[in-house]
Amino acid sequence: MSACEGFEDKTGWNGWLENISGELSGVESSPLSRIADTIIEKARLHRGDHILDLGAGTGLLTARAARAVGGEGSVTALDSSPECIEKMQSDSVIMGVGNVLPVLGRLENLPFDPGAFDAVVCRSALIYAEDLKNAVRELSRVLAAGGRFSVCEPLAGESEWKGEMGEAGPLFLQIEDVLRKSGGLRSADRHSVRDAFKQAGLEFDSLVVRFVISMEGRDAEEVAREYLNDLPGELSASNILRKSFEEPVIVQVAEAFGRAAADGRIRGGLPCLYVWGTRVG
Ligand SMILES: C[S@@+](CC[C@H](N)C(=O)[O-])C[C@H]1O[C@@H](n2cnc3c(N)ncnc32)[C@H](O)[C@@H]1O
Repeated sequence: MSACEGFEDKTGWNGWLENISGELSGVESSPLSRIADTIIEKARLHRGDHILDLGAGTGLLTARAARAVGGEGSVTALDSSPECIEKMQSDSVIMGVGNVLPVLGRLENLPFDPGAFDAVVCRSALIYAEDLKNAVRELSRVLAAGGRFSVCEPLAGESEWKGEMGEAGPLFLQIEDVLRKSGGLRSADRHSVRDAFKQAGLEFDSLVVRFVISMEGRDAEEVAREYLNDLPGELSASNILRKSFEEPVIVQVAEAFGRAAADGRIRGGLPCLYVWGTRVG
């Protein structure tokens, strides 16, 4: 596994999304690829367009956008992780894709001219920005007048768990409450994401789709680790929780959560918000 994929593992949410079942089940493709296809469809890409993929990771959207715009167009794949950029560079060479331009950079301060792109796509990256509103203002700035944007973000602040946690249940609810109010990844909710688009002056449609997260059959210790390290460093759940709980309590609850999730005794609900529109003027 590359260090870039390692980043996604540390967030937890990507791995969990791959275990989604539920509302969209019955369609023969993974939930992640269905989400990616929907984002691309709503961006209404044309051959020859110049596209920006924000927080491109390992290129889930980049590859689809590159196919849609063809050789006359281009896809700029921006990410803050050097490992992701290196991986995208070597993958483009291996696959003989000539219209992908990987760029190291940050969502909060995009290294592009105003109006540089015909469309911007993004999946599960804006919520990691240090300043969500600033990141969406930047998205708007680099879009040409009449340019389209299409985004899907997991609303970790609205995630919920249903089932039987046993004795650890009441403490688990308290811990989840602290995480929701933390200002970290797990505080992302539909209002803060929509507000960021409104304040950037963008008109948009939006849709919330709720996915069911099942971790049945996973390794319980790994699930507990993911739960506590949803973001690297300062913003990890364990770091946030240390300000309100004793370390042994955090470990005990995370382990109980890991066992209950891996045994299939509890399942999660994770709403994801699609936002799409056109930049007017
Ligand atoms: C959950 S991954 C999503 C990757 C990809 N969009 C996908 O759909 O698979 C989040 C990505 O956002 C990138 N990222 C996080 N914070 C960022 C920032 N402030 N600026 C640019 N990229 C960032 C990470 O490096 C990571 O590749």
